Amino acid sequence: MELYVAGQLPEALLVGVPDIDQQHEEIFNRISLLKAQCLESGFAAVEGFADVLELFAQHFATEQMLAEEAAIDFGEHASIHQDTLRILYKALSDALAGDQDVYSLLRYAEYWFERHIGEDDRLFASALSAANGRHTSQQRRPLSSSFSAHA
Ligand SMILES: [Fe+2]
Repeated sequence: MELYVAGQLPEALLVGVPDIDQQHEEIFNRISLLKAQCLESGFAAVEGFADVLELFAQHFATEQMLAEEAAIDFGEHASIHQDTLRILYKALSDALAGDQDVYSLLRYAEYWFERHIGEDDRLFASALSAANGRHTSQQRRPLSSSFSAHA
């Protein structure tokens, strides 16, 4: 059975920057799909978690690029990203060694991401909007190209 998990990003977590919102949604969808696969089969492949970490890394690079383009001080936010990646890659290493449950890691990553968006990315989006001197839009574009556009 092929699983499909439609848009999993709660509306309350939209920050109003289309590139960021699209990537957030793609990551939420990926995590939700992996969790659903795990619940269905009772097994979560560690490669799926590695893919999520790669999406995080790409997404963090996108935010860094947007900050640089808008000349926003991104040092503290970048530190949060780096600390999180370090922790999650350590968890990935533990999972590869069989010492971590992948489903639990997916739940942790999802919880961390939701908090990060609500607390840090929302502030970043406001600073970005102010720096760009324009109002942000709540419009959402198709998801197909948000990561590849910045690869
Ligand atoms: Fe962020």
